[in-house]
Amino acid sequence: MRLIMLGAPGAGKGTQAQLLSKAYNIPQISTGDILRMNIKNETDLGKKAKEYMDKGLLVPDELVVEIVKDRLTQDDCKNGFILDGFPRTIPQAKALDEALDHMGIKLDRAVNVHVPDEKIIIRMSGRRVCPQCGASYHIEFKKPAKENICDECSLDLIQRDDDKEETVRKRLEIYHEQTQPLIEYYQNKGILTTVDGVGEVEEISNRIKEALEVSK
Ligand code: AP5
Ligand code: ZN
Repeated sequence: MRLIMLGAPGAGKGTQAQLLSKAYNIPQISTGDILRMNIKNETDLGKKAKEYMDKGLLVPDELVVEIVKDRLTQDDCKNGFILDGFPRTIPQAKALDEALDHMGIKLDRAVNVHVPDEKIIIRMSGRRVCPQCGASYHIEFKKPAKENICDECSLDLIQRDDDKEETVRKRLEIYHEQTQPLIEYYQNKGILTTVDGVGEVEEISNRIKEALEVSK
């Protein structure tokens, strides 16, 4: 299955993509995680990306498109993939279409996780992430087994630099301007599934899986 996850920052794309990745045994490809890994390793890409990310702005299309194209050619994507946080703009969506065309494959579904803006702020301010594997937790809604420790890596969880309220508001503004138009883009292609992203994590995961089964 080849999926993309759409939704505002903090809508739960990463949380849901991680569960789908385990359920369907296909990789989760998060451009945000890849960029953060590059920042951590102080690569050229990371240095360029950080300037934008810290301000809540999107990283230029050409940088992320190259990352994704490269990633999709890796062996573990043969049976499918979940793109989480990509595409984010119409030019990115077109570049993805082109790349998949070249590979002779098509997207099966675009899953749009819908959460109202006011809930987003609460989610982001309580989010804590693993600096190693990128897994995301919440101080109230998705607690790790041991307080502030990643279940998988046993490392201390941290708060993301761009989860400050002011930056979150900027990210939401950018989402509405540049990413929301993708909903119509995939609707027009007939592959959009919108799921209510408010509720328990597991409940939402079941909604998505049911919607994917129906649309098979
Ligand atoms: P990225 O890492 O993709 O961030 P984002 O889209 O802003 O999304 P988030 O990771 O913030 O949220 P999410 O929807 O995955 O939610 P999560 O599951 O974590 O991008 C970061 C930056 O990188 C961008 O701003 C940009 O600069 C750059 N970038 C990345 N991709 C790019 C691209 N393609 N083009 C250009 N630039 C790009 O959940 C959020 C919180 O809520 C967590 O704490 C979670 O535990 C909690 N939660 C989840 N589900 C629920 C629930 N049902 N109920 C209560 N809490 C919940
Ligand atoms: Zn971890």
